[in-house]
Amino acid sequence: MQKKARKTRRQLLASKAAVQQQLINKANALTNPLETLDKFHEYITTDYTIKLSCIRAKDAQPECLSWIFDIMERNMKDMYEQSTWGWDAAEKQAELTEEMAWYLIASCNDKFLGFSHFRFDIDNGDVVLYCYELQLESEIRRKGLGRFMMSALESMAYQNQMLKIVLTVFKRNLSAIQFFYTLG
Ligand SMILES: CC(C)(COP(=O)(O)OP(=O)(O)OC[C@H]1O[C@@H](n2cnc3c(N)ncnc32)[C@H](O)[C@@H]1OP(=O)(O)O)[C@@H](O)C(=O)NCCC(=O)NCCS
Repeated sequence: MQKKARKTRRQLLASKAAVQQQLINKANALTNPLETLDKFHEYITTDYTIKLSCIRAKDAQPECLSWIFDIMERNMKDMYEQSTWGWDAAEKQAELTEEMAWYLIASCNDKFLGFSHFRFDIDNGDVVLYCYELQLESEIRRKGLGRFMMSALESMAYQNQMLKIVLTVFKRNLSAIQFFYTLG
């Protein structure tokens, strides 16, 4: 009897995993997860009309990729170097261009202003939208764009039946911690 119950539990776990994998595959099969979320296509400040687009990392143009590597280094290299991880440019570039990677890109007149690297993934047994990066140029910070991009990620997570958004942040990145706390 006990053996049978254990098998049933195993089966339940297997079917849960299969359903989760289907959700991930479905989300990853989209051409553009932002397409139907009209209110996140544009963000207007006093100085900028910012366009948001969502693409797979593997479809990013070379100039977009080189800007992404560049802003990562400018914004984060020091913080990585001060951590036990250290900064490994090749490893970071590989992570940023993996098959599952998506980018949410903010730009104005062909000038890149910010990006988020995210993935639809399974984390600790839950389907999640995993936010690997949220990086803005300094000129556009504190104008609500970070909050707007996080809302766009939340909507894409919700629309694709992801349970939550997951992210990690360095303990010494106090401004980012403040930002994420403010967002709840
Ligand atoms: C962290 C980051 C994405 C925030 O984006 P942003 O567009 O500047 O943030 P917002 O303007 O949307 O801020 C929303 C709220 O968060 C809080 N906040 C944002 N930046 C803050 C800071 N530097 N210090 C304290 N609070 C901050 C504020 O409450 C702010 O609301 P307010 O401006 O009305 O007071 C951006 O500063 C950035 O790209 N930083 C460098 C890269 C980085 O550290 N990324 C996070 C790695 S995980």
